[in-house]
Amino acid sequence: MEKLFVSSWYDNVETVPENYVFPPGIRPGDDLCPKSDVIVPIIDLANLHDKSGRASVVKQIMDASKEFGVLQVINHGVSRETLDETRRMFKDFFKLPAEDRAKEIIKEYSVRMIELGSSILEVISEGLGLEPGYFGKDLTEDAKVNVNHYPPCPDPTLTLGTSKHNDRSLLTILLQGHGNVPGLQYCNDGQLTTIDPSPDALVVFMGHIMKIVSNGTLRTAEHRSVTNKTEDRESSAFFLCPTQDCVIEPAKALLTPENPPLFKSITYKEFIKSHNANRIKKENPDDVVKTFFIKA
Ligand code: OGA
Ligand code: NI
Repeated sequence: MEKLFVSSWYDNVETVPENYVFPPGIRPGDDLCPKSDVIVPIIDLANLHDKSGRASVVKQIMDASKEFGVLQVINHGVSRETLDETRRMFKDFFKLPAEDRAKEIIKEYSVRMIELGSSILEVISEGLGLEPGYFGKDLTEDAKVNVNHYPPCPDPTLTLGTSKHNDRSLLTILLQGHGNVPGLQYCNDGQLTTIDPSPDALVVFMGHIMKIVSNGTLRTAEHRSVTNKTEDRESSAFFLCPTQDCVIEPAKALLTPENPPLFKSITYKEFIKSHNANRIKKENPDDVVKTFFIKA
């Protein structure tokens, strides 16, 4: 018999299984899509490669990364066809056995995400005043993709698709699935903002590592996802991560007596180990990296 990627035990579920129910206070409750004044900026990258347009793109990306740690990009150079094929493939991924076609699409998608991620990181290194190519080395050499599938949930008020977290990457590019199924929520100092899916926009999150490397100049965006009563939802997160032995520390070029390092140097391997140990104990994702703060 052909092996499927996941079982479909949830097809016959009528109530939320007990081990999926979150404690009150952490579960979303009745207000699944709260109103918010925060607008996650949508940045048009069409002029990224011309001299006169670039400065404005750099400013917009830096402003969004400092204020929110998350932004959306359009006219990013990844064709609608590639995005749609990737979405379709990830939707089917959970129902179908792996095929060569899927491998081709994953390859195209990965190449495009690395290209786009690298251009955004070039903008950020320029904006921070780092040398060109600063992020092009072992800070991004490990790319990973996380494909999420959230089946319809009998009671979305009781559970979460993904708990509140910050990504452990340098940068994440998130592709939301086909259809208009919202679910992704950005948490800004406790205020939740739903980032509606859009056929052409990609969501870009600054991860924990970006906050450390930028010595706290850039924010890392806390986010979570909620489930839906009637529809399946998919998303795929493309993470640009450091290699295991890469040393994670504030970029030396940013440090001055007035701007001393806020974080200790640590290898990425140690970071992950410590993060794994801490997140089990801590409820607040930001507390997880507090162990890396240099105490004043
Ligand atoms: C993730 C993530 C949210 C979503 O995979 O890191 O935040 O919408 N996913 O699936
Ligand atoms: Ni995430």
